Amino acid sequence: MLRISPLRLLGFQRFCKVSPLEPSGPRQYCLDPLSFREDACNQRVFFTTPIFYVNAAPHIGHLYSVLLADALYRHRRLRVPSAAATRFSTGTDEHGLKIQQAATTAGLTPAELCNRVSAQFQQLFREAGIASTDFIRTTETRHRQAVQHFWEVLKARDLLYKGLYEGWYCPSDECFLPEAKITRQPGPSGDDGPVSLESGHPVSWTKEENYIFRLSQFREPLRRWLRGDPQAITPEPFHHAVLQWLEEELPDLSVSRRSSHLHWGIPVPGDDSQTIYVWLDALVNYLTVIGYPGAEFKSWWPATSHIIGKDILKFHAIYWPALLLGAGMSPPHRIYVHSHWTVCGQKMSKSLGNVVDPRTCLDRYTVDGFRYFLLRQGVPNWDCDYYDEKVVKLLDSELADALGGLLNRCTANRINPSGTYPAFCSACFPSEPGLVGPSVRAQAEDYALVSAMSSLPTQVSDHYDNFQIYKALEAVSICVRLTNGFVQRHAPWKLNWESPVDAPWLGTILHVALECLRVFGTLLQPVTPTLADKLLSRLGVSATERNLGELYFLPRFYGHSSPFEGRRLGPETGLLFPRLDQSRAWLVKAHRT
Ligand code: ME8
Ligand code: MG
Repeated sequence: MLRISPLRLLGFQRFCKVSPLEPSGPRQYCLDPLSFREDACNQRVFFTTPIFYVNAAPHIGHLYSVLLADALYRHRRLRVPSAAATRFSTGTDEHGLKIQQAATTAGLTPAELCNRVSAQFQQLFREAGIASTDFIRTTETRHRQAVQHFWEVLKARDLLYKGLYEGWYCPSDECFLPEAKITRQPGPSGDDGPVSLESGHPVSWTKEENYIFRLSQFREPLRRWLRGDPQAITPEPFHHAVLQWLEEELPDLSVSRRSSHLHWGIPVPGDDSQTIYVWLDALVNYLTVIGYPGAEFKSWWPATSHIIGKDILKFHAIYWPALLLGAGMSPPHRIYVHSHWTVCGQKMSKSLGNVVDPRTCLDRYTVDGFRYFLLRQGVPNWDCDYYDEKVVKLLDSELADALGGLLNRCTANRINPSGTYPAFCSACFPSEPGLVGPSVRAQAEDYALVSAMSSLPTQVSDHYDNFQIYKALEAVSICVRLTNGFVQRHAPWKLNWESPVDAPWLGTILHVALECLRVFGTLLQPVTPTLADKLLSRLGVSATERNLGELYFLPRFYGHSSPFEGRRLGPETGLLFPRLDQSRAWLVKAHRT
């Protein structure tokens, strides 16, 4: 896999000149971000995704962010089943110049465009099995109230002042840019025009009186927060990048636009001539969802984990924590950052015509297949490339052959005619390795399998905690391979149930392999919920036996009883995951064209 430094695409943009109209000397606040940490909420966790712009239809990058959050949420629910302890929000970002302009281009009112595209996001997430507890649209009244309240708090704390903003603005990225981040490029008419160096999107010169947030006051508090909490931003290279940015001067931030220019947004309270900057508006969504400014939001804040793409790190790791500190709140507990999907080596973009439609993918590869692919192949630290053959190869080898094949081997009538979880025989597989005796059949590699399987659930949980879901799936996949090796090594199909010598060992082989499958099924629930359900149902594992708290691997080996031993398997429901390469006519067609 090509390793691309996440920092390459980051480039912190410092924006331009701000001259205060009514200079009121910066007030000193006691801003100790860590002082808030201790009142963190009683075991609650709130996962969020970015809220997505509605100027274009969703693509696989958006789905990827939401899937990461969905897997984290579902994994946490397996650990702490109470629905009251975990929350998960996603939504759409519907205000701003970008949406206003897209609506004009589409010949729609902004509200029509928002309704149409927000519905597409909601439908995609439903189809992809996203278990979010909240969906927010920034055009909702509850959100306007939250944003305006937040504004009033900043104002009351003397953190907003009026100033003349002069500089470049990029509507596509909804951000201010310094001269050093601008280049010239031929536009559609052939003439050179100014564009953002980073995104290539057109920028325009802006000179207007705006409200300005005293961001510069927060440089030190932000540095203290990040130094004091090394895991605040994960993975580490992103944490490091933000601290690097904070080595530089942090200018104040313009947080409103003239309403005559930007009308599609939330008006500044008490000043209709100004509209609140779309990023301030958007970031407050995380508070709106949990009931801000009502008191209940305090039971979820700051126990919040934001899942974001690296493109919006600056907004979440600098602006947002500074705004929160300014409003007297704590920064979020965690910011989990992921890199981008490219397509056949290129950035996904509408103009290149290479945007991958996630609904086609869910259709082709099944919901569970595509969820598995994105989460198994997506690596937060660096960019990942998408192409169809890669999906087929991965799913055929890991889900159809390795996992599906293993289930089939252990449950097929030929080898398991009683259709049960056979008994485990301690004489064949004693808990102590190296014993010799007439009935001992287990070999050194079999003990290695038991040891790998016993530590797998903890390993998987640790990977989830570190936002390395692909590593959790890799660990499962390695164990699936070890289990197939175990079955292959002992070739149970050569053993005979009728033979009193073979039968206890044959039962033990199947018992161990079924135990492995039960652990795989349990651990795969957050990523492939339907496939995991099918697997666990086939094994006869009931709904109350599927949480992580009750996941004990192979209790018989450790001298305990097993609730599964002797239990009837569930009904046969066909292949766990049918191979894709033979069954998909579209792939042959794609190869030909
Ligand atoms: O920035 N690969 O919205 P947005 C992976 N509204 N993830 C990708 C991706 C790709 N190629 N492209 C986009 C906005 N994403 C703001 C956010 S939050 C308060 C406001 C994902 O529609 C990734 O999570 O441009 C990225 O951060 C997000 O979509 C940007 O979506
Ligand atoms: Mg974007």
